[in-house]
Amino acid sequence: MDAAFWNDRYAVAGHVYGEAPNAFVAEVAPQIPAGPVLCLAEGEGRNAVHLATLGHRVTAVDQSEVGLAKARRLAGARGVEIETVLADLANYSIATGAWAGIVATFAHLPPALRRRVHRDVMAGLQSGGVFVLEAYTSAQLAFGTGGPKSPERLMTLDGLREELSGLEFLIARELERDVIEGDGHTGRGAVVQILARRV
Ligand SMILES: C[S@@+](CC[C@H](N)C(=O)[O-])C[C@H]1O[C@@H](n2cnc3c(N)ncnc32)[C@H](O)[C@@H]1O
Repeated sequence: MDAAFWNDRYAVAGHVYGEAPNAFVAEVAPQIPAGPVLCLAEGEGRNAVHLATLGHRVTAVDQSEVGLAKARRLAGARGVEIETVLADLANYSIATGAWAGIVATFAHLPPALRRRVHRDVMAGLQSGGVFVLEAYTSAQLAFGTGGPKSPERLMTLDGLREELSGLEFLIARELERDVIEGDGHTGRGAVVQILARRV
């Protein structure tokens, strides 16, 4: 699932994961302190644009130029600006102590990269800043309603607690929910949700 895969996937008229923000991001957005927000593996920009409408200065990083072009168009349609950065997260440096919020929804990276990104997320948050994550767990394989097929890219609450152990967990839960987000995620899903703060 490289940049070419995602460019191809996003080369359709509508937004594959919808234009509305991820439901968990929308729920916890009021708990992101004022200040800049970094959206990792942000795809077509649904979260970035929502957070920009709430007044955050938002940077969206993704490896897909097609996705980011759609993100900029969505921002324009909503009358906000976002910064987009075309990068593989393997080569992207998260600025230290810079972010009031960092957001990652369904960013199913290979484990070694995910662990490194999570280390950098902890260092990248300002004091009081929060990390917002939603991802599929290994239980998702039984549902077949979206997400990667390779088990090592799926996440668990225990694994995330370990990888993000420097943060204070405000919300940390595994649950089943109906994930109805564009055509890309459609139906019952098994997810993990994290809201965690740098103290
Ligand atoms: C399932 S989509 C989720 C997009 C967005 N977060 C959302 O929820 O709408 C996964 C995204 O991760 C991005 N991605 C995967 N691996 C990446 C990497 N190594 N570097 C940058 N982006 C990556 C893909 O390009 C894709 O846009």
